[in-house]
Amino acid sequence: MGEKSKSRGWCGWFIAIIVLAAVVLAVVYTVRSRLKKPDEDKPDDGPVPGPPGAIDKKYADALKLALQFFDIQKSGKLENNKIPWRGDSGLDDGSDAKLDLSQGLYDAGDHIKFGFPMAFTATVLSWSILEYGDQMDAVNQLDPAKETLRWTTDFFIKAHPSDNVLYIQVGDPKIDHKCWERPETMTEKRPLIKIDAETPGTEVAAETAAAMASASLVFKQSDPQYSATLLKHAKQLFDFADSKRGSYSVNIPEVQTYYNSTGFGDELLWAASWLYHATEDKAYLDYVTKHGKEYASFGNPTWFSWDNKLAGTQVLLSRLLFFKKDLSGSKGLFSYRDTAKAVMCGLLPNSPTATKSRTRGGLVAVSEWNSLQQSVSAAFLASLFSDYMLTSRIHKISCDGKIFKATELRDFAKSQADYVLGKNPMGMSFVVGYGDKYPEFVHHRGASIPADATTGCLEGFKYFNSTEPNPNVAYGALVGGPFFNETFRDIRDNPQQNEPTTYNNALLVALLSSLVTTSSALQSLN
Ligand SMILES: *[C@@H]1O[C@H](CO)[C@@H](O)[C@H](O)[C@H]1NC(C)=O
Ligand SMILES: *[C@@H]1O[C@H](CO)[C@@H](O)[C@H](O)[C@H]1NC(C)=O
Ligand SMILES: *[C@@H]1O[C@H](CO)[C@@H](O)[C@H](O)[C@H]1NC(C)=O
Repeated sequence: MGEKSKSRGWCGWFIAIIVLAAVVLAVVYTVRSRLKKPDEDKPDDGPVPGPPGAIDKKYADALKLALQFFDIQKSGKLENNKIPWRGDSGLDDGSDAKLDLSQGLYDAGDHIKFGFPMAFTATVLSWSILEYGDQMDAVNQLDPAKETLRWTTDFFIKAHPSDNVLYIQVGDPKIDHKCWERPETMTEKRPLIKIDAETPGTEVAAETAAAMASASLVFKQSDPQYSATLLKHAKQLFDFADSKRGSYSVNIPEVQTYYNSTGFGDELLWAASWLYHATEDKAYLDYVTKHGKEYASFGNPTWFSWDNKLAGTQVLLSRLLFFKKDLSGSKGLFSYRDTAKAVMCGLLPNSPTATKSRTRGGLVAVSEWNSLQQSVSAAFLASLFSDYMLTSRIHKISCDGKIFKATELRDFAKSQADYVLGKNPMGMSFVVGYGDKYPEFVHHRGASIPADATTGCLEGFKYFNSTEPNPNVAYGALVGGPFFNETFRDIRDNPQQNEPTTYNNALLVALLSSLVTTSSALQSLN
């Protein structure tokens, strides 16, 4: 007994000393962290994010619709078609070059398959799946998203028959736009445009490389062989883009009318960033740091769109600084992250550097043609950046000395999403089929012509001229959007405001996937 009580005495003292030391340490730590100025680059002691949280039905419903729009845009022999008024079309596309280019997506309300914006659409879809696949899955939307992505990447594989040859367009807008007809009944010629070593097109080759590299990550686990094929094409296309530099807009002037590129530097950086994520080959990281000064427009916030990928590149590369343990040799990334922060500071409505490109109702609005593209893309980047911050337990961002919370970026993103879904001075949703009031005269050939009508090229204009709403509802289509003065004319002859596009919808899918649950935990890109 004596022995035992003696040992208990020693043990007791020992425990008391440990407890006292722990208390002292805790007090010192608390005082220090109270005194410490908020350091935006260091994790703080905020909550650790958890798995997907509660589902927000509003965004879940809208996400499901937004993904459905891609089924409306599919060309080729349809599989599991869920759209009653759609059928097979474009089955001979590519035959001029003895290729099967029947798949892919019609760009908008017409039937051209424009490779440049289609590749951007695919890259954005991949990005949303990689970051928010678990949240999409929580609302049963992961499979439809992957299915649509694969419909486009299958097309790109076939459109890239040899290293330095890429078919970048199916159909001629001069021919196509003269007609108003359903894709299922079109009989006009569908000429092809390609780029090759003699006629290079750096931006479209690089964007297609970005699409295939990012998609290779999406399919890495579920289909390793397909993933490897995509990665092989992505590397070849990047080499082609980089070694044979030339703008496709300069080399093929006819593309200027619809998808004129203002430069290829952004696509090279964007593609290299995706290839680095897909391969972890340091050569791609060196590429973005080496060419940053030349191409990245450091310090200047830009708008993310089918033409300009700089803001997206800056956010994507920030990811590395937020999450990578080994950052040796990636000093050159800091300018990218600083520029991403400048983008974010421009978006926060109360920031000293807030953009003035806003409507009175609070919508970011940069272009009166397809105005919602930049609102939605900016909101997606803000939501994602906020999640990067929260996931790495960095809760604050400084804009010219004024401190904002990461959650304020998410609030901004929600404000844009809510505007799009109906919280706006027009009291209407810009997503077809969402809410009580939405566009009914969408500029879209297939939607405006009854499914049983057989028109030729010109007779279909009877339906274009009709003052009746579209007979087929293009569920999920995000239209171009309001003017800066927050007016919107729901008439068919208004492509500026009332035409949907695949890249708008991809950006909307990205934004809604980020908002669909209350979670801020991100999937890993690798
Ligand atoms: C296309 O963009 C280039 C700049 O890259 C510009 O010089 C040209 O005028 C533009 N073309 C059209 C039709 O807007
Ligand atoms: C549609 O309207 C345009 C003018 O607004 C007219 O030229 C054309 O003939 C009309 N087409 C049909 C098929 O009604
Ligand atoms: C709103 O802006 C559009 C395009 O800039 C313009 O055509 C229209 O007249 C304006 N409407 C009003 C009511 O100011």
